Amino acid sequence: EKSGYEHFMMKEMFEEPKVIKDTLSPRIVDEGITLDNVNITAKDLENIDKIYIVACGTAYHAGVVGKYIIEKLARIPVEIDIASEFRYRDPLISDRNLVIIISQSGETLDTLVALKESKKRGAKTLSIVNVVGSSISRESDYVLYTWAGPEIAVASTKAYNTQLAALYLVAFNFAYKKGYIEDSAYKNYISQLKELPSKVEEVLKNKEVIQKFASKHYNAKSIFFIGRGLDYALSMEGSLKLKEISYIHSEAYAGGELKHGTIALIEKGTLVVCPVTQDDLIDKMVSNIREVKARGAVVMAITQEKNASIDKVADVVITIPDIDSLLAPVAAVTPLQLFAYYMAIEKGCDVDKPRNLAKSVTVE
Ligand code: M6R
Repeated sequence: EKSGYEHFMMKEMFEEPKVIKDTLSPRIVDEGITLDNVNITAKDLENIDKIYIVACGTAYHAGVVGKYIIEKLARIPVEIDIASEFRYRDPLISDRNLVIIISQSGETLDTLVALKESKKRGAKTLSIVNVVGSSISRESDYVLYTWAGPEIAVASTKAYNTQLAALYLVAFNFAYKKGYIEDSAYKNYISQLKELPSKVEEVLKNKEVIQKFASKHYNAKSIFFIGRGLDYALSMEGSLKLKEISYIHSEAYAGGELKHGTIALIEKGTLVVCPVTQDDLIDKMVSNIREVKARGAVVMAITQEKNASIDKVADVVITIPDIDSLLAPVAAVTPLQLFAYYMAIEKGCDVDKPRNLAKSVTVE
């Protein structure tokens, strides 16, 4: 079943290029983007004052990326909520809202209840779900399936990449319908979407560099992930993955927030992982790297090939192929997943079945 891989998690990471393609290609038709049965017209979008994205865990982290890209492209305000918080906070939901629910399993109880609550208050609901026929898919007004296939490892990997793929489809589709992107830019983005699978394929080839780094640092007691913009969203996911399977304490911080407290924890030898994929924020991130280096941190940066000179400030640089900053999370998450995997392996952890966790959380 593991098709020659030692763990489901590794097998599933290696499926990423294929499942990203499976998620994108049926929706890219005649150089445009269609969203299956999601019948949200330009007129409907005019009546949507705000979008809520609600999810848990990794799906929530995909949602954080979703917030950035939908706001940036489609210019609709987006609020992102953890499902277990959303359902108890009497959210201000009405028929002028669209609620996007993200769930791999489609069975997470808090997420399902959040969906039902949103419907009760008159919002339209769109679910990005992986399991066909799951409770969440059945309850939603619209469903956009991620075609990631069965995900067995408790740590979610390929599902995240496909959730991002689905969110890009939504963001570009809404932006185009609202007239915020021109034909030529739309076409350009679509051709870049089509290149995502091959970019992730390239990233997977770097696994030995990450493995080597992990073999040197698996004794770390605490690891910080710092990033700005979409790299901050990515940092949250990298940190969760590491905690979940390697049991190493870790935190994700926005680069600019470091000096408001956390930098006090950086000392000689502290490991800091920095995704640096956002063109307009590179200089700022380089300053952050310098700040932590000056306090003795060991830094692993992840960046596009064109920025490889970051190795002048970081200790190790993992490169991903050159890719538009907006789309970078799809390719830049893979090194973070590989990093968590190898750290866990080095520590002798049960990667596919981490302690205290279930694949899908169907209790409150
Ligand atoms: O099935 P769901 O996407 O609703 O699950 C949500 C979380 O329980 C899930 O992403 C969890 O955080 C993963 N184990 C993370 O790797």
